[in-house]
Amino acid sequence: MKALVAPDVEAYAEAHSIPESDVCRRLREETYRSVELPQMVVGPLEGAFLKMIATLVEARRVLEIGTFTGYSALCLAEALPDDGTVITCDIDAATTELAKRYWAQSSAGGKIESRLGPALETMQTLAGRFDLIFIDADKMNYVNYYQCGLTLLSPKGVMLIDNVLWSGEVLKHPAPDGTTEVLQDLNRFVAADPRVAAVLVTIRDGVLVVRLSSDTGFQ
Ligand SMILES: C[S@@+](CC[C@H](N)C(=O)[O-])C[C@H]1O[C@@H](n2cnc3c(N)ncnc32)[C@H](O)[C@@H]1O
Repeated sequence: MKALVAPDVEAYAEAHSIPESDVCRRLREETYRSVELPQMVVGPLEGAFLKMIATLVEARRVLEIGTFTGYSALCLAEALPDDGTVITCDIDAATTELAKRYWAQSSAGGKIESRLGPALETMQTLAGRFDLIFIDADKMNYVNYYQCGLTLLSPKGVMLIDNVLWSGEVLKHPAPDGTTEVLQDLNRFVAADPRVAAVLVTIRDGVLVVRLSSDTGFQ
């Protein structure tokens, strides 16, 4: 992943944001030591952003698509009240096991429930509404996750979709590959979708922040 924000600017922002918990730091460090593609972890600044959004919407029920080693799930769980829950989906049993080892070391870990299996299938089984949905898994399914996520979002809830700038590749026309094309399609579709209001935030690799327009009053 290409850094879109200058590393010193990112470090400054990180140093002036909600600090990373000790368990999250250790989990991130082990991920970088022992797992392939460790840069998939959202990291301290986006983790702080997730926490802030969860707090702002007073989230109790969170759905995450893409657990990996459990870093973002733990950030979100740390921001929830004691009776809050994070349901997090992944297909990789090995990284989920690592995640569980670290969740067990955190007082927030008991709020996290892991669901193994293709996320779209898991989403079909979920009942009730979620206050925050974080989408951060296979990009080819992003439009499907978005569409299905909207049916699961509570009226005042927020959906956060990660990597929508795709290292800046989304600026290229024609798209250099299929993944970029899917992300371009998603960004165009969401921007024109009358059901939602959205802002594409240039944090890390780009996070699309989406909420239902019926509740915003935005024109
Ligand atoms: C970018 S990583 C998630 C990083 C995590 N949110 C964090 O910041 O710590 C993407 C994850 O999506 C998972 N994944 C890929 N395809 C999937 C699918 N069809 N259903 C569920 N998870 C999937 C991968 O196994 C990988 O762990």
